[in-house]
Amino acid sequence: MSQPTFYITTPIYYPSAKLHIGHCYTTVAADTMTRYKKMRGYDAYFLTGSDEHGQKIERSAAAAGMEPLQYVDGIIKNFKELWRKFDIDYSDFIRTTEPRHEEVVAEVFKKLQTQGDIYLGSYEGHYCVSCETFFTETQVKESEGKCPDCGGPLDTVKEESYFFRMDKYADRLLQYIDEHPDFIQPLSRRNEMVNFIKQGLEDLSISRTTFSWGIPVPNDPKHVIYVWLDALTNYISALGYTKGDERFEKYWPADVHLVGKDIVRFHTIIWPIMLMALDLPLPKKVFAHGWILVNEGKMSKSKGNVVDPMVLADKYSTDALRYFLLREFIFGSDGNYSEEILINRINIDLANDFGNLLSRTTAMITKFQDGVIEAPREKTEFDDELLELFKTVPEEMAAYMEKLEFHNALAAIWKIVGKANKYIDEAAPWALNKNGEKEKLATVLYNMAEALRFSSILLTPFMPNTPAKVWAQLGLTELSHLHTWDSLEYGKIPAGTKIDRGEPIFPRLELPKDDSEGEETSKKEAAKAAKKAKKEAEKAAKKAKEAAENGLKPEITIDDFAKVELRVATVLEAEKVENADKLLKLRIKVGEDERTLVAGIALHYRPEELVGKNVVMVFNLKPAKLRGIESQGMVLAASDDEGNLQVLTVDKVKCGGRVK
Ligand code: MSP
Repeated sequence: MSQPTFYITTPIYYPSAKLHIGHCYTTVAADTMTRYKKMRGYDAYFLTGSDEHGQKIERSAAAAGMEPLQYVDGIIKNFKELWRKFDIDYSDFIRTTEPRHEEVVAEVFKKLQTQGDIYLGSYEGHYCVSCETFFTETQVKESEGKCPDCGGPLDTVKEESYFFRMDKYADRLLQYIDEHPDFIQPLSRRNEMVNFIKQGLEDLSISRTTFSWGIPVPNDPKHVIYVWLDALTNYISALGYTKGDERFEKYWPADVHLVGKDIVRFHTIIWPIMLMALDLPLPKKVFAHGWILVNEGKMSKSKGNVVDPMVLADKYSTDALRYFLLREFIFGSDGNYSEEILINRINIDLANDFGNLLSRTTAMITKFQDGVIEAPREKTEFDDELLELFKTVPEEMAAYMEKLEFHNALAAIWKIVGKANKYIDEAAPWALNKNGEKEKLATVLYNMAEALRFSSILLTPFMPNTPAKVWAQLGLTELSHLHTWDSLEYGKIPAGTKIDRGEPIFPRLELPKDDSEGEETSKKEAAKAAKKAKKEAEKAAKKAKEAAENGLKPEITIDDFAKVELRVATVLEAEKVENADKLLKLRIKVGEDERTLVAGIALHYRPEELVGKNVVMVFNLKPAKLRGIESQGMVLAASDDEGNLQVLTVDKVKCGGRVK
């Protein structure tokens, strides 16, 4: 049987834009997907590149006193350096200034013109140089003369222009979308696009005469080809379309075009219509992911809030950043970024959960079995649940990967990590050792090592460097056949493997003292921000006053709420506090942590009623002393006017789980 193929693309980025973590988001997602497909035996091809023509580049180059090509050459070097740093293993990087691309665009233009899909007319309308987009009179009216996309100034353009007959294909496109429910994802974007097409498509102006930095129209070089027609063609020019290149036969149509939500229209209307006109098959899927926001707003140079991935990469490992990007944000929805959110994610998932699992496992194998993984011997009552996850999680993760639900795929992997940590607590290898139960001890330590092997294999597409560190500590470096998807079968680690305990792979990080570190804020911006903050504070104070009058607490932002870390804790022990009617002292466990809490619930619960319950607690509350006992957190409870009080409990989510 021939090897199945998989072709995935990112947008090609504008070299004028400083690449920020938003750009890394798409690229990391595409790289992860490619690595995953390769791991599953696919011949996977991943294309990225740069979109180098257009008026914006021409103007920026002129401002820098350079020729456009010289200007972009420098920037492309930085792009490539960034991708290297993030272990982006693309198959090809296409630049739209390369002859291999320019030739194909000219041929596409000629073909469409010859068959009558392109005609010469006159264009009068509005153009946003920053977005390289034309807007209709109606669109501009609605946005009060500003660019409907970015809010920037619009140029009024009146010039001779070539047009592409879009409307001719509108019905065919609607039918295609209808018959291919997976073509545009997520669903919300699909509905948006269907409505847009149904309103009627205008013919698209696809050439410009007022600047020259572009691909000339064949036989009419005073026109340059519209930058989007040029750019979209990259997905086939890179494969050698029209050149008899076997890669085109092999990989087209693309399996997935990953794009940000702002450029879905180009990819699901203009691009498919171009392909229909060329009589080529359409991509199988266009997936629009959301935006990474800072303080709920867009990142932009002018706001000075651009998060530089190079700076982050130097501070945190790129594996941690890659994990964070795909775990924290739901692919398809917008998400808010802050360094605090990043650090918390690294600390909780990577340092506490994953890193600790490795440390605990290697520490115990070293201490109890002289650093040797022994064959599992006698079963313990806790094995089954963990072993069941070894069977189910790979397929669960695979199903999420197919749907590009990266955050869920990682959450599935974390089922093994979380369960393994719990397994250690339950099976208590230290007690087995103390009691001389060596047969069971061997089984527990073996299973812990297998949990690390399974999770590391599944994490490989997300974090290209971390698994090797785990293999080294588990003594599995040389056994590369145990690093593969096919080896996801319990019991593969050979008995007698000598481990090599090392340093923690994800040391805990301190939160930065100054939140704005790494962000450049100009004085003007700061003044503007202060004015805005003052206004908002006044508004908030007014609301707070109103709320207080109604017996409510003031409104908070999602950021305020995000500061509270709520976790699921299991109550291990409970007892009354002496001489305090209302207080109970609880010993609880949250993931790895054990803590003491004092809770004012003694009038409502007998101590023994609470033991074993999974309660919800504030995990990051500053400790306070109550009756001489340090309370490390707070249990949440609901109460009403009738004197009822109930501690919040959960029954499905395990100890350590997060409440959001
Ligand atoms: N050059 C065009 C794409 C042409 S593809 C044939 C372009 N370039 S861009 O550099 O402006 O943007 C590239 C991608 O980055 C877009 O998909 C855009 O949605 C994405 N992002 C830009 N900022 C982003 C965030 N803050 N968050 C996530 N993605 C964002 O558009």
